[in-house]
Amino acid sequence: MRVAVTGATGLVGHHVAAAALAAGHEVTAVTRLGRSLPDRLAALGAVRRLGAELTDATSLARALGGAGGIDAVIHCAAVYSYAPSTVTELTDVNVTGTRLVLEAAADAGATRAVVTSSSVTCGSGLLPVERTERDHLGSEPVPAYYASKVRQEREALDVAARTGLDVVLALPTVVLGGPFDRLGPSNAIVLRYLLDPTRSTFPGGCNVVDARDAGAGHVTLLEHGEPGERYLLGGDNVTWRTLHALVADLAGIPQPVAELSPGVAWLASAAAEAWASVTSTTPLSTREEATTVGRHYWYSSDPARALGYAARPAREAVAASLGWLAVSPDLPRVVRESLRLRPEVRAARPLQPRAVPDPSGGDGDTASAPVTPRRRPPRPAPPRRRPSPR
Ligand SMILES: NC(=O)c1ccc[n+]([C@@H]2O[C@H](COP(=O)([O-])OP(=O)(O)OC[C@H]3O[C@@H](n4cnc5c(N)ncnc54)[C@H](OP(=O)(O)O)[C@@H]3O)[C@@H](O)[C@H]2O)c1
Repeated sequence: MRVAVTGATGLVGHHVAAAALAAGHEVTAVTRLGRSLPDRLAALGAVRRLGAELTDATSLARALGGAGGIDAVIHCAAVYSYAPSTVTELTDVNVTGTRLVLEAAADAGATRAVVTSSSVTCGSGLLPVERTERDHLGSEPVPAYYASKVRQEREALDVAARTGLDVVLALPTVVLGGPFDRLGPSNAIVLRYLLDPTRSTFPGGCNVVDARDAGAGHVTLLEHGEPGERYLLGGDNVTWRTLHALVADLAGIPQPVAELSPGVAWLASAAAEAWASVTSTTPLSTREEATTVGRHYWYSSDPARALGYAARPAREAVAASLGWLAVSPDLPRVVRESLRLRPEVRAARPLQPRAVPDPSGGDGDTASAPVTPRRRPPRPAPPRRRPSPR
């Protein structure tokens, strides 16, 4: 199929583009106007690029309509953030942007779409019980991001009903791994434990999925998903204590000790936000995010598995996250040097081949030709210039 992928410069979208290419589809990455393909994406080979603003129907129509025809869109682009400053953007991009992308795709001749929602739309519980696609958010207080994903799902199904586009909803759980330019809230969970001198953990838990599996899962849904259905794409359900213990074991640092109550976690997040505002940085956690402490975000992915979806164990997903964090500027050097990473951590981060320059020059916003990779150099360059950890 000729598939347009939005958000391909992000964590999930990168792996969606890679998996779609590997499955033999023709991939066009739809990026922000003026944004060139990152090296890591160009290095996959044969990815075309088109520029469009997700909140602008005209630019989307021009991009998708001028793509030389598309059969499907996989819409991964979204604002994934718990920062209070993003509330308006959450509606504009996650809700309105989804409607505009799907309408433009339908107008451009696409007949099928996969929209990346989130497992959080299935809610959470105080008890360690798996939830399914039949569950929904309850009346618990939720971050604005969660509410935007619920509204995104409704908007997507509404466009499907109006246009006849077959829309399948993909609901990844906590996606770990890389590559990433910008640290997202999911890998920040792992980073927070590395940075926490108190080695605290929390009550409750989550479900984690390796970014590679989340990407492949989207392609499974593109090919086999039932229109109108939601599919959870998760891996193992773990308590926060188990997750932090995995981080500790793989990074060679102390195991978690104290369990912070939701109230203390909230206060710690308030302090993180205050510090971030003083230093003009992004907070590592927010009070909104801390409202999720004590709950179980545990999910079953049985319907997707029945279509062929598979996910690796939590340990491998955490190893991948650590592998990318170890070369990220988000990890302070002093902390990096204190880690004793297990070999499986380094093995979980493939070396990135050097990209072939985008023949369009990178900032053209019309269709650029597919980028065909040269033969890989014998010693591929690492993705960032920072020194690798020991
Ligand atoms: N990561 C997770 O744990 C997780 C879990 C469940 C669901 N999800 C969902 O998965 C999807 C992708 O998340 P991610 O983790 O890959 O996030 P990410 O790494 O932050 O990537 C977000 C992508 O969306 C693009 N984007 C954001 N705002 C845009 C705008 N106004 N116009 C054009 N492009 C825009 C970004 O482009 P730039 O690179 O140019 O900024 C980037 O390509 C989202 O729908 C998210 O809700 C993620």
